[in-house]
Amino acid sequence: MKNIVAITSSLLLSASVASAAIPSTPAEKEKMDKFISELMSRMTLDEKLGQLNLPPSDDIVTGQTINSNIGAAVAAGQVGGTFNIKGAAKIRDLQKIAVENTRLGIPLLFGMDVIHGYETIFPIPLGLSCTWDMAAVEQSARIAAKEMSAAGVCWTFSPMVDISRDPRWGRMSEGSGEDPYLGSEVARAMVRGYQGDNLKNNDEVMACVKHFALYGASESGRDYNTVDMSRGRMYNEYFAPYKAAVDAGAGSVMSSFNLVDGIPATENKWLLDDVLRRQWNFDGFVVTDYGSIGEVAVHGLENLPDASVRSLKAGTDMDMCSFGFIGTLKQSLDEGKVSMADIDKAVRRVLEAKYRLGLFDNPYKYNDVAREKRDIYTAENRAAARAIAAKSFVLLKNEDEVLPLAKKGKIALIGPMANSAVNMPGTWSVAADAKKYKSLRQGFEDALKGKAEVLYAKGSNLYEDAALEAACEVFGHDMRDPRSEQELLDEALRVAADADVIVAAMGEASESSGESSSKTDLTLPDTQRRLLEALLATGKPVVMVNFSGRPTVMTWESENVPAILNVWFGGSEAADAIADVVFGDVNPSGKLTASMPYNVGQVPVYYNHFNTGRPKDPNDPSFQKYRSNYIDSPNEPLYPFGYGLSYTDFGYSDLRLDSSELAADGAITASVVVTNTGKRAGDEVVQFYIRDLQGSVARPVKELKHFERITLAPGESRTVEFRITPEDLKFYNYDLEFVAEPGEFQIMAGPDSRRLLTQPFTLK
Ligand code: NOJ
Repeated sequence: MKNIVAITSSLLLSASVASAAIPSTPAEKEKMDKFISELMSRMTLDEKLGQLNLPPSDDIVTGQTINSNIGAAVAAGQVGGTFNIKGAAKIRDLQKIAVENTRLGIPLLFGMDVIHGYETIFPIPLGLSCTWDMAAVEQSARIAAKEMSAAGVCWTFSPMVDISRDPRWGRMSEGSGEDPYLGSEVARAMVRGYQGDNLKNNDEVMACVKHFALYGASESGRDYNTVDMSRGRMYNEYFAPYKAAVDAGAGSVMSSFNLVDGIPATENKWLLDDVLRRQWNFDGFVVTDYGSIGEVAVHGLENLPDASVRSLKAGTDMDMCSFGFIGTLKQSLDEGKVSMADIDKAVRRVLEAKYRLGLFDNPYKYNDVAREKRDIYTAENRAAARAIAAKSFVLLKNEDEVLPLAKKGKIALIGPMANSAVNMPGTWSVAADAKKYKSLRQGFEDALKGKAEVLYAKGSNLYEDAALEAACEVFGHDMRDPRSEQELLDEALRVAADADVIVAAMGEASESSGESSSKTDLTLPDTQRRLLEALLATGKPVVMVNFSGRPTVMTWESENVPAILNVWFGGSEAADAIADVVFGDVNPSGKLTASMPYNVGQVPVYYNHFNTGRPKDPNDPSFQKYRSNYIDSPNEPLYPFGYGLSYTDFGYSDLRLDSSELAADGAITASVVVTNTGKRAGDEVVQFYIRDLQGSVARPVKELKHFERITLAPGESRTVEFRITPEDLKFYNYDLEFVAEPGEFQIMAGPDSRRLLTQPFTLK
């Protein structure tokens, strides 16, 4: 063993000469290649296959790593990495087995689903995107990276950049909504935040862009369902954010569960090789999603051995939990179904990731126990999370300026989400410590201490049907109140009778969205609706604070409730952040990144649709026979993409172009004047859209192309500009060439995708 360790150390030494970062010069790349070639020349086939295996880690008890199944597998050289284990010391124990108890001492990768923060948790990604604030998005990822890396984790399964236009799909909560442009901006910002200074430092982690590709278009919004899509839609819409993340340097990509053109993504050579590696020049590694290779046969294709062969040859490098690579590739090699070169290609990419992370230099780079104590859930990180959460909330309605509430008198906080700290962080909060987080009730009490009184009643359960409620409490949160609906309601009305104003904290539980949480009914559950009706019947002002992991159907509420604040799941500091907005310390500025439908029947409903040959006359609200519309519903959503109110008002005027002709190698500037016409300072997200009026293929009725968040004092005006170049007009044509076609265009500017000023221009 001593000799072996000596060999290992000498390898480590030669790696340390190279910089622990993504090689950015040819010389650095050469150094990395040489190091890895040398290492690979010493590896046996079994050791190579071990590198391609990513098993789960869930059986570790602190101090017992060596006796755990994962510990034994690591010692046997059967593991390249593992995931969802946390703790600098625990991870060090496991890393030590890899480094000291295996022949070549190759360090492990430690991954985790750090989706919107580690212990300091930020809004769910859908909420985060509603900030339209890329500095904030990047900051959230930076803080997440600092915290997770302090806890030993070097690889995050984020950003999730799947575009989705179907709120039935619970995983819409994990992405940035319906728009390719905004989604791409977010993707880039997150990769920058995670990978920081090119992975040089021990507080920077490798990003894993997922789920490649098209997962967000699961048919009928049912999770894991089939996807079938035209190439035009893929390239112009769904692919954009993945490509943006790859261009930003993301070190890894996770393939998706779904079919792409009838072939599971995990073994789709066109997707993983032609598109990802050849067209986009991706040079990181590809990991499957959980058990995807094993699911190939269930989709109706090959069994595990052949699916492993096909996945490897397609460009998959690491097998998450199917045990197909480690279990079957050896035999497939004997049978001549794969070559050593196929295996080596994948091994090299996994080793490169470890090299880029600096793990050969120092396998314990991420195991600083002192940093773990110091850097996680700090006051500074929490302050950032609170500010970002407040920016993510979307004010949907505010009749008669009910909001903000004054900090005085008696405020009744009523509803199933009012006193539930576990429901604040939202789905995919793997490292959450809910004991440290406040319920909304606590947040209100802290905000109002010495000024106003908070009265509380639960008011209702989440659902009247206990089985439905249990489906949202899969991680053991038991919110169920054994009292009858009437008892809960009576108590709520007694409490409300004593109050000056009512805040109704309602919506869905955090685990009603996220993976495996598809829904067909997006309205407020009946029991909560009955509670809301009873609260409104008191005649007192009612503010609805809606918790949701997706766009919900708020049609009845928008007609009947005076004020609605959509708060998504705001993270560990959500309670304080909601209090900040409700009581006016922060002026809301979030804007929707996904349309909120009138009803589920409209879904998918999104702003950047095609026009059809028979569009409805938008100025006539009635049903139009033989036009593209519904007998019983508007076409447009209730609240459109980009929509969100403020406690002040903004006026838009004077949309101008400095020239109405854009030369093929030129630029023109659009400008619009935005004025704060209200009485408070506020932030506004100014949005620019473009329409290509005549393309060689159909083009959307509008596409977001630029936005800017500005702060204006009352009465202040600002001219906001957008410099348009032909690059902004490019799209993938029928032959999938990225081109700008000469012709007529429109530029539009406004506060959301519906209320827009328009000017024409021509591309020469
Ligand atoms: C399955 C999910 O689809 C994916 O997003 C996640 O990263 C993996 N499980 C690992 O937890």
